[in-house]
Amino acid sequence: MIANSQTLSPLICPQGSSEPGSARSYAQSRNGILIGMSYRFAAPVFLDLCDAMNPHILICGMTGSGKTYLTKCILMRLLSFCDANVIAIDFTGEYAQLAEWFYDKGSIPENLFTAQQHMCYLGLNQMDDTARVDAACATLDLMAVLMRQRGGSGPRPIFIIIDEAWKLIKRSKGLEVIIREGRKYGVGLITSSQLLQDSSMEVMSNVATTFVFRTTNAHSLEIIARSHGISMGAIPDMRALDRGSCLMVSIHKSANTSAFLIRSVSGLEEMDTVSILKGKKMEVKIGIREFNGLINSLCTGDAASRVRQGVSSPRIELTELICALIEAGAQRRGILCGLRKIGIQDCDIADSFAMAIARVNTK
Ligand SMILES: Nc1ncnc2c1ncn2[C@@H]1O[C@H](COP(=O)(O)OP(=O)(O)O)[C@@H](O)[C@H]1O
Ligand SMILES: [Mg+2]
Repeated sequence: MIANSQTLSPLICPQGSSEPGSARSYAQSRNGILIGMSYRFAAPVFLDLCDAMNPHILICGMTGSGKTYLTKCILMRLLSFCDANVIAIDFTGEYAQLAEWFYDKGSIPENLFTAQQHMCYLGLNQMDDTARVDAACATLDLMAVLMRQRGGSGPRPIFIIIDEAWKLIKRSKGLEVIIREGRKYGVGLITSSQLLQDSSMEVMSNVATTFVFRTTNAHSLEIIARSHGISMGAIPDMRALDRGSCLMVSIHKSANTSAFLIRSVSGLEEMDTVSILKGKKMEVKIGIREFNGLINSLCTGDAASRVRQGVSSPRIELTELICALIEAGAQRRGILCGLRKIGIQDCDIADSFAMAIARVNTK
């Protein structure tokens, strides 16, 4: 028990939906990206970056409390469901595997601005500390310049992820520019640190969304409570939070603030497979990597990312998938071979193909 229902109630009112469903079925909501279920009612809580005062996110908590896990979930969902481009500046190598999943991964930050690439990965873990900090700062400076050159917000939002490197790079000029001006150029920063006060007050007041994981640091909580107008009594005992549980506080465009206690950040495990269905009669599960590979083998670049967005759910109807592929210009013969290769029977393909073609023709 981390608090009684009275103290928690202001923190756990479900957002919008009165009929909480499974994390899975809400994962592709257009109202934002799923973070997890609220503590008491198990209602899904979303992070809606379009509705946030700015796109920046700060994550704090003790080591092992779940910061990296949340950051990876957000990264994954931004790429898969939000038509966002992401650059991960990785000090520890923890993001390498996730980056591998994304076919259009490279290491040229400029490509994110020209939309030639969705993900840019800079693995700095092999470097010594000084070189790492220099490389990260240089990249942030470059991002700030590119962002200003772009002039406006551009076709896709861009997010910069730097995990646990806050203390090291907080003097970076580029970082400061991004935090202050990123909103108008559609560039958001996602960063974490063990203590909230590691970052300056100025930075904290420029970050619209903050996640606080387990912490024994009372000062971090006071800062959160004060800056969001929450009474300290309403904040549960953050020293007792389980791994993966966190407080999410946001400042919205309307200037209203909201606070939710998340039972457990809903996991990557939900996202690592995709089920292709034909009603209740057929279900074929494949790894997300294999699924991305299938789409990439049938269509290229932007068309492939449109398909992934069009079917942005871990459970996809076969007809819907075929429709999206046809519309993206994939060859029908190629679709047939690709679906066969992942183990879908010819009769199921034939049925769904007929329905998909009819659907495409009537659009
Ligand atoms: N919401 C979660 N669900 C399942 N496992 C989690 C969750 N959050 C964290 N973990 C696991 O706990 C461990 C520590 O989490 P991590 O995110 O690395 O902590 P931190 O970055 O705060 O040090 C990892 O093995 C991670 O997979
Ligand atoms: Mg970590």
